[in-house]
Amino acid sequence: MASLRLYILLFLNIWFYTSGTEAKAPSRPVQPYHYDYSRIQETDQAWKCWKEGYRPPPATSNKIHEQGNGTVAEIERILRFDQSNTVLFLFTSNSDNQNLHTTFTVERNKLVRLSLDNAGLERLELTLLGRENDCRLADLSVPRNRLRDLPTGVERLTALRKLDYSYNLLEEFKLDRLANAAGLKQLLLSHNRLERFVATEQVNLAALHKLDLSNNRLRALDASYWTMPQLETFHVDNNRHLTVIDGWTRAKFPLVKGFDPAGTNNWNQTWLKSVQ
Ligand SMILES: *[C@@H]1O[C@H](CO)[C@@H](O)[C@H](O)[C@H]1NC(C)=O
Ligand SMILES: *[C@@H]1O[C@H](CO)[C@@H](O)[C@H](O)[C@H]1NC(C)=O
Repeated sequence: MASLRLYILLFLNIWFYTSGTEAKAPSRPVQPYHYDYSRIQETDQAWKCWKEGYRPPPATSNKIHEQGNGTVAEIERILRFDQSNTVLFLFTSNSDNQNLHTTFTVERNKLVRLSLDNAGLERLELTLLGRENDCRLADLSVPRNRLRDLPTGVERLTALRKLDYSYNLLEEFKLDRLANAAGLKQLLLSHNRLERFVATEQVNLAALHKLDLSNNRLRALDASYWTMPQLETFHVDNNRHLTVIDGWTRAKFPLVKGFDPAGTNNWNQTWLKSVQ
């Protein structure tokens, strides 16, 4: 699909160059980007921290849903929505966004759910001054972008329930940075370029039930400092050089069903038998 699009673009460029007899610079064909977003605005901003089960009250909130095809400028305008009265913003696109280069800054204690899926995101920032925490953002999902890092201040997202960074360009993940997200339930990091996923001190994620590290480049993994008694779904397949997980025992992760002996890792079979 991507290469077909490339051929069409190349063909159009050649056509532009060869058919224009006047020396006029060919204007690039404007590629529209598909978008689909939902947004819940809420006028009552008196409430402070998000709690499980919160729903925006219908009397003070309204929902917007739009879809279409827009230019880069229109996509950028959509992403610059007013966060001061928004609690939910879910954006997705089905276009090839290789040439869309966007950034997004999350304001403090406004959004409860933010999802920017395939939005051409290359930078994500949080505006947290001094030692402030954010106690509202419960869902931060930014799959299918080109992010290389976690934002500065991610340590202070204390209400986080879900962090989805799948299909990005992370090379390293320090689990210590989520030590304050005590209610984290899902950590989704598949399809990155992770070579390191490390904890340098005991990290207690008592509510975590899903951890996805699959389709990365991990060669070593050490679970000694992971405290995740509720972990049930653990994906680590397609890390082709991974042979063992240090510190892993069945007793420590009683709800995880085990590992596929014939899977896409390079399991040391002696180790594997000892943990199944
Ligand atoms: C966006 O463009 C695609 C084709 O590029 C078309 O199929 C689709 O209907 C368009 N969507 C809208 C909402 O205009
Ligand atoms: C496989 O694991 C066992 C026990 O954990 C270890 O003794 C052995 O050296 C490992 N084999 C290889 C090839 O690394």
